[in-house]
Amino acid sequence: MTQVASHTAPPSKQPDPNLVLGDIPEFLGNSTPQAWVDKALDNLTILLIDHAQCEKKAASAAMSMMYKYVDRRELLSKMSKLAREELVHFDQVLKLMDDRGIQYTHLTAGRYAGALHELIRKSEPEKLVDRLILGAFVEARSCERFAALVPELFNRGDEELGRFYFSLLKSEARHYKDYLTLARQYSETDIAPRVTAFRDLEAHLIDTPDDTFRFHSGIPS
Ligand SMILES: [Fe+2]
Ligand SMILES: [Fe+2]
Repeated sequence: MTQVASHTAPPSKQPDPNLVLGDIPEFLGNSTPQAWVDKALDNLTILLIDHAQCEKKAASAAMSMMYKYVDRRELLSKMSKLAREELVHFDQVLKLMDDRGIQYTHLTAGRYAGALHELIRKSEPEKLVDRLILGAFVEARSCERFAALVPELFNRGDEELGRFYFSLLKSEARHYKDYLTLARQYSETDIAPRVTAFRDLEAHLIDTPDDTFRFHSGIPS
């Protein structure tokens, strides 16, 4: 029997978020500004409370589509699974907040989701297609922000939150893909122009001054 000498514990391997991001950086119109990352690291309490809120809203948006589009079989399956996963994430964030003594309080909403919703067309099936494209952007941006935070959290010694955010990357990346696949499936035309419209607005919201810090806010002002 060969024995491998081991005098020191192996260094804890830092996960590499880029392995999970796939084509998300190309899908998004820009990357998260460093100023937002710095603000987030200094405001983890608000970040976590708003993150919990985002998970709950993601589940609620998926369920709302399940009520409205009962004849879309594929959507019902995918949104049912997605809603359950978001609620698990919500519970996980709450537990992490408990461990840190952070109280879940009500936070006012930032500008991000409301501004993106303004772009949704009113008639069907365009409305459904736009809701799905919007969902893809929110999931993609969440992934990109988690990926930006993970190495910084490790550098700061907050391995617990770094590992948690890395663990969320995989499912949020799948949600992004699911939303985009459904948008293509239910659209009667090429979705590229709508993806471009949402990309431009979303990137603008990320890249312009924003006085309310939230998970999806712009440049802190
Ligand atoms: Fe989630
Ligand atoms: Fe998600």
